[in-house]
Amino acid sequence: MSDTRYPSATSAPELQQRSLTAVWHPCTQMKQHEQIPLVPIASGKGVWLYDTHGQRYLDAISSWWVNLFGHAHPHINAAIRDQLEKIEHVMLAGFTHEPVVMLSERLQQIAPGTLGHCFYASDGASAIEIALKMSFHYWLLAGHPEKNRFVSLQNDYHGETLGALSVTDVPLFRQTYEPLLRPGTHVQTPDWRYAEAGESAQDYALRAAMTLENHLAKHHAETAALILEPLVQGAMGMGMYHPVYLQRAREICTRYQVHLIADEIAVGFGRTGTLFACNQAAIAPDFLCLSKGLSGGYLPLSVVMTTDTIYQAFYDDRTARAFLHSHSHTGNALACRAALATLELIERNQVLETNQHKAAHMNSLVAALTEHPKVRHFRHCGMIWAFDVDTQDVDFAAKCFQAGLQQQLLLRPLGKTIYFMPPYVITEDEMQLLVAGTRQVLDTLL
Ligand SMILES: Cc1ncc(COP(=O)(O)O)c(C=O)c1O
Repeated sequence: MSDTRYPSATSAPELQQRSLTAVWHPCTQMKQHEQIPLVPIASGKGVWLYDTHGQRYLDAISSWWVNLFGHAHPHINAAIRDQLEKIEHVMLAGFTHEPVVMLSERLQQIAPGTLGHCFYASDGASAIEIALKMSFHYWLLAGHPEKNRFVSLQNDYHGETLGALSVTDVPLFRQTYEPLLRPGTHVQTPDWRYAEAGESAQDYALRAAMTLENHLAKHHAETAALILEPLVQGAMGMGMYHPVYLQRAREICTRYQVHLIADEIAVGFGRTGTLFACNQAAIAPDFLCLSKGLSGGYLPLSVVMTTDTIYQAFYDDRTARAFLHSHSHTGNALACRAALATLELIERNQVLETNQHKAAHMNSLVAALTEHPKVRHFRHCGMIWAFDVDTQDVDFAAKCFQAGLQQQLLLRPLGKTIYFMPPYVITEDEMQLLVAGTRQVLDTLL
């Protein structure tokens, strides 16, 4: 940083200005930053992010849902430091290393069913691409090249590379690229917000499952897989649904010989109250996609876990029958060590039980929000809380983000849905700040 051709920023405004010139920020209309300053973050600790002025913000959304145990956790930091002294990265074709082997064995032990084979990539969308390709390729090898279509749920989000976007149903991200996407079907969402008045979450989920059944009854011969976000459809407003849908989906997929791909990229590792969302329905998918919290949110890492049946179909003397897919950073050693340290924290801290107590405490505080006259559909699943706001303001999300910062909160609503998905280390006092600050935001904006 001492090279005079590339000087460090001397002030926050300079850092912000240089970022706006040199960095194209994700999911952002850059021109809006002519009015709205970027938040220049200097450090983090636990649930808190600190900007270069020393202002702090409670990371209520775990930095896009990745962080499980807070920022700068000593145990994960130490594991990465230790790994740095050994090997930071080595290609995983023709080579292997202890962290990737240990991580794969641990994941096999804790994943639902018998998902004994781990294929790694670097981010969530890449994991989705892998699962889709593997599913199609399996059917091809099994003599069914016609099974090349995918079904997903209305309102599902699976990432934004072209394959992942093809099974995503978020118009804002999809519409522009429609000519590039593969045709597919999005069957009725089981999200309880769509139920008829008086219809229970379970009854509605069963009704939605019938549309899946009707679709596959007609189209199973050309369908490779159903992909879904189990229990919580994140990006389209934290829509939550009853686990009975997953049970039905599993039965229907098995009956019609269609793979089930569970995208637990956002909800894995305890987020929904069980280690994996699939556990709540006591089902095992054919492919399980994991990322985000996998490395504690520290480093880009994702994995697709699958069964021996799938694996064996590719196992052959002929290279051409192999799964010839690769990413340069597949199984990165530093990321695998971060993941192992994260799994140790999950076990050591008895996270599922601890989170139950935390969730109960949070639920005792939320009356301040549920009683607000503009709050609709307050919902909760494990360590996720969400509600919709009754407003006509099309800029609500951006205004809420700004108003949140004034209350020392990082909130990033999804349209008119405000949600909390905090790191698991959040304390009771911090929950109180979160709820009180959010109430202030609502009172200011509505
Ligand atoms: C359910 C789900 N699947 C896939 C993805 C894509 O992951 P990534 O952003 O790492 O590509 C996300 C990201 O939010 C997600 O929530």
